[in-house]
Amino acid sequence: MYLLSADGLSCGYGHSQVLWDISFHVEEGGIVGIIGSNGAGKTTLLRTLSGLVPAQSGKIEFSGERIEHLSPHKIVERGLSQIPEGGGIFPYMTVLENLKLGAFLPWNWKRISQSLDLVFELFSTLEDRKNQMAGTLSGGERQMLGIGKGLMSSPKLLLIDEPSSGLAPKLVLRVFDNIKEIQKHNVTILLVEQNVQYCLNMASRAYVLENGRIVLEGTSEELIGHEHVRKAYLGI
Ligand SMILES: Nc1ncnc2c1ncn2[C@@H]1O[C@H](COP(=O)(O)OP(=O)(O)OP(=O)(O)O)[C@@H](O)[C@H]1O
Ligand SMILES: [Mg+2]
Repeated sequence: MYLLSADGLSCGYGHSQVLWDISFHVEEGGIVGIIGSNGAGKTTLLRTLSGLVPAQSGKIEFSGERIEHLSPHKIVERGLSQIPEGGGIFPYMTVLENLKLGAFLPWNWKRISQSLDLVFELFSTLEDRKNQMAGTLSGGERQMLGIGKGLMSSPKLLLIDEPSSGLAPKLVLRVFDNIKEIQKHNVTILLVEQNVQYCLNMASRAYVLENGRIVLEGTSEELIGHEHVRKAYLGI
């Protein structure tokens, strides 16, 4: 059984359909990538998995349970948490206040000090800056805060949307190192990235999304060697 799987998933906004017949799966404990260019539908796919965009047809199964009809907070309760592009943080709240918001469910609240310990162990910078306004953080630190906030709900699966977006190369490497660390703490990761090289280095398998459809899937090695991926995404 897969931790997450989608079968024949279609969705969109109003009358415009964005995703067509999407089927994919994520094994427990791994990092799976989704790559695709601007407007391919990557964010829409994550939002559909989180219940923020309703599925028009198809099914989504998480931990053996159908979730496509559940509301976003019920999906978070099941252990699926999404980190939006840019981290989804509140700039006029402190780092600590932002983290606490991530633990809004009653049982998360009970184990808040353990969750904070884990986040501060992974991101010591956040501990140093815990009383600082989140809006004063650097781009990389904001990304860390976004991930930390996602971890506060003790997720089984984290959906991370373009963590490298807007970051200098040095910071990108650091954020990706952090993501690998998180994986070691039994959190499965579905990683959306436009930075295809980094994504394939991190993930064991990946899917290529183009114009709302999955056009290719394979192990990262297979995709790195695939002519279409090399030409269209790696520029080689
Ligand atoms: N709220 C919305 N209402 C209507 N259309 C939308 C909405 N959000 C996205 N779209 C459309 O859906 C399509 C897919 O957008 P989406 O944001 O999922 O792409 P993406 O792959 O995440 O792109 P990017 O790499 O730029 O983040 C685009 O054509 C976009 O214009
Ligand atoms: Mg996007």
